Amino acid sequence: MQIKLDTRPYAGLESEALVTYVFEEGDPVQGRVAEIDQATGGLLRRLANSGELTGKTLEFTLVHAPAGLKAARLLLVGAGKREQFNGATLRKIAGAALRHLKAKSVKQIAFLVRENDANEESAQVVAEGILAANFESDKYKTDKKNDKSVDGVALVGYSDAERAAGEKGLTRGRVIAEAQNFTRDLVNEPSNKLTPKILAEKAEAMAREAGLAVDILDEKKIAELKMGALLSVAQGSVEPPRVIVVTYTPPNPKPGAPIVALVGKAVTFDTGGISIKPADGMEKMKYDMAGGATMLGVMRALAALKAAVKVICVVPSTENMPGGKAQKPGDIQTAMSGKTIEVLNTDAEGRLILADAITYAKQLGATHLVDAATLTGAIVVALANINVGVFGSDQPWTDKLLASAKATGEKMWQMPLDEEYREFIKGAVADIQNIGSGKGGGAITGAMFIKEFAGDTPWIHLDIAGTAWNDDAKPWLAKGPTGVALRTLVHLVMAS
Ligand code: BES
Ligand code: ZN
Ligand code: ZN
Repeated sequence: MQIKLDTRPYAGLESEALVTYVFEEGDPVQGRVAEIDQATGGLLRRLANSGELTGKTLEFTLVHAPAGLKAARLLLVGAGKREQFNGATLRKIAGAALRHLKAKSVKQIAFLVRENDANEESAQVVAEGILAANFESDKYKTDKKNDKSVDGVALVGYSDAERAAGEKGLTRGRVIAEAQNFTRDLVNEPSNKLTPKILAEKAEAMAREAGLAVDILDEKKIAELKMGALLSVAQGSVEPPRVIVVTYTPPNPKPGAPIVALVGKAVTFDTGGISIKPADGMEKMKYDMAGGATMLGVMRALAALKAAVKVICVVPSTENMPGGKAQKPGDIQTAMSGKTIEVLNTDAEGRLILADAITYAKQLGATHLVDAATLTGAIVVALANINVGVFGSDQPWTDKLLASAKATGEKMWQMPLDEEYREFIKGAVADIQNIGSGKGGGAITGAMFIKEFAGDTPWIHLDIAGTAWNDDAKPWLAKGPTGVALRTLVHLVMAS
């Protein structure tokens, strides 16, 4: 889909729909909305008076053939209270407007920003909202006759003097949304179409196109490196594991700058292994590679945005299968770091593969670590599908990430990691065990396990098990993969 800036006066623009947004305040007909009211001979005032136009969050008011405008339709979207309005609201408004009109087979839209919003940030969030909203999970549908995707959006309300700022925001928004949709495409792939080998090939193709360095470790190399924790998960599958390493090196590295490692769990299917999962809903475990897909998407965006710091992305990928060769509860494994692990539950496999990936990222020179993983069902109990669970070993580094989450409108909530929780993973027969002993705090237990391998290197763990997949469509996003955490991580690296 095309999205471009058009600085011509909006009233005279021919489009299938002109969209703008209305605040919920004493008089919703103000500023640009009052301008449109004048052009349409008092139509909006009448709608406001009758109670049909209030500005309540995501209220839609659609007018056909509005007098005085060249557009075939006028769509007014409620923006809620003006004091609470921000980039995150505007992103949702743009996305929701697109999905509302797309359902009506509208192909071409003009999106008008309000009188104070003709700036770079607005252009960025509108592009992000619109491009993410246009994404559908219909790749494997052979009958495309219901395909309603929008062809083009014009961003309007910018003067010629504001054009440069608008273009800059649009470009950044496009890069970020396209990276997010790249991630969502990967997450959508079923496990028969996306094995660790295929994921590695797709990552390699992306890296080459983006101008990133890439190194794929195969099962032989993984064994040479003694990644015993990763191999223990992979041994149950006929599909060999891979470790995908993508590196971004800035043209002019800042002296003393951090080297950030982004580590993402990519279990292309998680049956649970011998500690097998129940059948009901198991199909969703194709999304157990969302952490890895997110990190690959972040790398793609960072290359396009020409980040100033070095970033190493490490994605351990495997299937978790039961079978004659699968590891069994009680098996003891030696991780790459040399630590021994008693695997009490083969379904707690994410932490095993992350352990070795983190050890490897440190060996490659990482000074700061972030991992993202669909790690635990327990994080869904704690935070539902609203917030990403954030765990951090270093508060300044964690605070930076939380600030980036705020700035990019992604909900994240910090969870505790007190030393007392270390007891939970203390091993009876090995150094550590991969699950706690039934004391609750499942998401924290998982994080404590990974922390063992991060050691003194500042580290953040994002548990995205509850947020990487939407079971229901939102007004601004299709149901299915969300691409959550990508915007935050791009922002974090760009701000480092
Ligand atoms: N991949 C799952 C976690 C998950 C759950 C992701 C729900 C997405 C939605 C993970 O590997 C897992 O199975 N975790 C276990 C850990 C337990 C055995 C300690 C869990 O959460 O039940
Ligand atoms: Zn599992
Ligand atoms: Zn898993």
